[in-house]
Amino acid sequence: MSVCVRTRAPIHPIVTAAAEGRLPGWAVAGARRRRHTERVAGLLAGWAHDMELGEEEIARWRAAGILHDALRDASPADLVRILPERLRKLPPKAYHGPAAAILLRADGVSDRGLLRAVRWHTLGSKKFGRLGRALFAADFLEPGRTAKRQWRERLRVRASRDLNPVVTEIVRNRIDYRVRAELPVHPRTIGFWNSLVRAS
Ligand SMILES: [Fe+2]
Ligand SMILES: [Fe+2]
Repeated sequence: MSVCVRTRAPIHPIVTAAAEGRLPGWAVAGARRRRHTERVAGLLAGWAHDMELGEEEIARWRAAGILHDALRDASPADLVRILPERLRKLPPKAYHGPAAAILLRADGVSDRGLLRAVRWHTLGSKKFGRLGRALFAADFLEPGRTAKRQWRERLRVRASRDLNPVVTEIVRNRIDYRVRAELPVHPRTIGFWNSLVRAS
């Protein structure tokens, strides 16, 4: 009788380096951006630790935080050249996630959950696993964001034991803001919302 053992590919050196705070050579992120990604990574690592996910998973979560905005300071004109045709109609502020995921894949990173988390951290995705949801939340809740400070702090504290309700509250807040401001809500964000409320 064969026993099915689920294995994951060994952690890629780029991911290991990111977990230690080092960005790939192609990154375009200034000092202020790097401080933001450090805070996001710290929050993710803390949540992963509280969830008792193990050392390798904690490193993976920290890496996602460091890598998610690796191209955030590149110009949309430069980023659009990295993207395939079908992604060029995204809002330009959402280019940097897919572009970073493409360059990570080209460098040999094959961790689909991490790539998806990086790719869609701006708009959300109905296909997010736990890491994608956590990165989306950490990007929004990191302590450098000063608007609605107490609300963010309450959600930060809850996130490791109540991730889905916390993410649902963040997405609801974002959609509510955009609806009230008569701004469009991207279909991917709607899809993310639907996946959250169907799951809860
Ligand atoms: Fe971003
Ligand atoms: Fe970010």
